[in-house]
Amino acid sequence: PWRMFHTLRENDPVHWQPEPEPNSGFWALTRHADIVAVDRDPETFTSARFTNLEELDDDQIAIRRSMLETDGMRHVALRRLLQKQFTPRAIAEYGTFLRGLTAKTLDAALPKGTFDFVREISADFPINVLARMLDVPDSDTEKLIDWGNRIIGNTDPDYADVLLHSAESEQYRDLPFRSPASLEVFAYGRELAERRRGGAGTDLVSRLVNQTPADGVALTQADFDNYFLLLVVAGNETTRHAISHTMLALMQHPEQMARLRDDLSIMPDAVEEFLRWASPVYHFRRTATRDAELGGKRIREGDKVVLWFASGNRDEAVFEDPYRFDVTRKNVDHVTFGKGGPHFCLGNALARLEMRIMFEELLPRIADIRLAGDVSRVRSNFVNGIKELPVTVTLA
Ligand code: HEM
Repeated sequence: PWRMFHTLRENDPVHWQPEPEPNSGFWALTRHADIVAVDRDPETFTSARFTNLEELDDDQIAIRRSMLETDGMRHVALRRLLQKQFTPRAIAEYGTFLRGLTAKTLDAALPKGTFDFVREISADFPINVLARMLDVPDSDTEKLIDWGNRIIGNTDPDYADVLLHSAESEQYRDLPFRSPASLEVFAYGRELAERRRGGAGTDLVSRLVNQTPADGVALTQADFDNYFLLLVVAGNETTRHAISHTMLALMQHPEQMARLRDDLSIMPDAVEEFLRWASPVYHFRRTATRDAELGGKRIREGDKVVLWFASGNRDEAVFEDPYRFDVTRKNVDHVTFGKGGPHFCLGNALARLEMRIMFEELLPRIADIRLAGDVSRVRSNFVNGIKELPVTVTLA
């Protein structure tokens, strides 16, 4: 997509993309500045009409809405329920656990010599962290990974999942428009909630079910289901792909890998370049609540406006030589987690720490790592994902 994004940024940065079906066209924003401006203005560009390209009717939205698709006071109230658990300070407390988990993952995978980096290292790692935050047994992580794949990667035939309608679903007649994987996640979350209600647990589920949101309006079953689902999927594939893309970029730039290994203290800045480079989430969508102007174009109330974060991360106006991967780049002003808006990624500190620890632990363990076959990609216009990354490792 990079060439197409470049062409759009140069020639038509606020581009109307008509679609074959009625009401499915959208504005494609490809410049960093426009993406940030819209992300910061939820009153004009709401998330409440949903944040992917799909057009949903009011009934579907009511059933599927999570905090990501909620604006205003209710959004703040929902976000606050778990905000303290995701601050950099709270996340830093997981440092020792993360380092132990990383060491365990690497020490099991690296001696294999030749293996799929995604399967052995990046896939399991983020979900194991989440499993810990949810306080569920390690034996459940396979299930969580599979659900994440089927829900987020659902345009890839390998992960194909079909939308079910209520008539076909015995157990969840009240939940039309959800995929089988989502229904499985709901059943799992509801069981956890049941066991933890009224308890003194400090895990994410206990905190969700034992607090009243700040606006005084209790969580409905749908609120809980969608919150839980968001937690399961939001940090899973995204962080996985960020780690895989970084590994690929480092293999393609061995001199930069050596530079990092020689001075691990530059890792925190390097992680920002990893995130810019990887751009695991291609886009989110907003909907105009009123007529507006963007880049000289007239946006009408009801129009879909798509923020192409991945394109913003290659914008020549912000990044010098944006197609150069450079682990020494400073002040990397990426939009990988959104920027400046109320929906700015809740898990950003966690994702950053996971990536940092992963590469701080990985690099000193290896003398060499190189590609050992074809890289296969997730077919999706939503996640920029790597499905398989065959590598050959020589231990240090
Ligand atoms: C929101 C990306 C990791 C939880 C978002 C948004 C993006 C994003 C682009 C929307 C931002 C906006 O619209 O302004 C990513 C990427 C990740 C990552 C690229 C990994 C590299 C995580 C992790 C978690 C998480 C580890 C938690 C376990 C969330 C939640 C939201 C969110 C709950 C919704 C926040 C809201 O609506 O207020 N993420 N994310 N993310 N992310 Fe992440």
